[in-house]
Amino acid sequence: MAIILGIESSCDESAAALIGSDRTVLAHRLAGQEEAHKPYGGVVPEIAARAHVQVLTPLIAAALKDAGLVLDDVDAIAATAGPGLIGGVMVGLVTAKALAMAAGKPLIAVNHLEGHALSPRLADASLEFPYLLLLVSGGHCQILRVDGVGQYRRLATTIDDAAGEAFDKTAKILGLGYPGGPRVEALARTGDPKAVPLPRPLLGSAEPHFSFAGLKSAVLRAAQSGAHRPEDISAGFQQAVVDCLVDRLERALAKSSECSPPPFVPSVSRDLSQPSEITSLDFARDKRDFAKKPKTLVVAGGVAANGAIRTALEALAARHAMGFVAPPLWLCTDNAAMIGWAGAERFALGLTDPLDIAARPRWPLDPAAEAARGAGVKA
Ligand code: KG4
Ligand code: ZN
Repeated sequence: MAIILGIESSCDESAAALIGSDRTVLAHRLAGQEEAHKPYGGVVPEIAARAHVQVLTPLIAAALKDAGLVLDDVDAIAATAGPGLIGGVMVGLVTAKALAMAAGKPLIAVNHLEGHALSPRLADASLEFPYLLLLVSGGHCQILRVDGVGQYRRLATTIDDAAGEAFDKTAKILGLGYPGGPRVEALARTGDPKAVPLPRPLLGSAEPHFSFAGLKSAVLRAAQSGAHRPEDISAGFQQAVVDCLVDRLERALAKSSECSPPPFVPSVSRDLSQPSEITSLDFARDKRDFAKKPKTLVVAGGVAANGAIRTALEALAARHAMGFVAPPLWLCTDNAAMIGWAGAERFALGLTDPLDIAARPRWPLDPAAEAARGAGVKA
């Protein structure tokens, strides 16, 4: 069994975990920064980076102690190298590089989104490729066809806000505080989802993309009108998000076997014009393999913690005779276990990275994906 140290620092959670290649979570530690960002109603990048500097190394030491291990017992060190708030990403990546150099261990630069995308396979050993993945977090809202480690075809993205961002902004408008998702969900439980008429942007449109900016503006207008109870606005908003996610996934399901196979992207740092030692590996590039319809619907990312969304997606999967996998809640929001697991999946394929690898504020899982029509700079 290989043991991987995972490090996460791309947003407002500092985290360290020790993961076995047999899926054992030997230790996982997490330090949130909720209090530090609370006065600002959102994550302040500079404050986040400084907090990672303070807590990350003691957190790694604590995780090693929890697992009863020393650095020498670890087979590789995996850290988020992007995308995310660059100051924080640099703190985690440089920490991983220093440890890798000092201990003489290989470094694995993990795409944070790949961490989310593969996390369901840590929780569920029976989850096989290909699967259709709804990746919904504070920064991203994408539908991906996952054909293997490093093999992602993006079928849809948001043309403006991410779903988690819409939850956070709704919470801010309603004065619920930060982070918004869980608070909106809690308030929605006592509200009537039909009481406030709210739009479902892009519902029924041909491409499976998302849009949440118009919904957010409608929530603001409903709140400012003073005519509605906050619990009804919360319930109406959550129902609108559920309806959009389900409708867009229906569209993506129809498209998921029409698209072309994804390119295999081995690493951030490798010069892709040069032959790589791993191109000979037999990845599922065969056209017949790709024609296989995904048998499982998977949801990952922080918004996947939402109960109403999980219930609706489970029903959608059942309608399509597909399996449904959602990781446990602690694995949905940012954590280091998913980074350690993505590291373990990469390590098993011989995918390690050089010490001069760069941190990346932006790092798409499918670099060949076309920009969504109408997309602003956030896409
Ligand atoms: O994956 P994550 O921890 O960080 C990013 O990579 O963005 O996702 C955080 C997002 C936040 O926008 C948060 O409000 C949302 O996930 N979230 C939820 C819930 N729990 C967290 N949204 C809706 N319902 C929830 N229960
Ligand atoms: Zn995340």
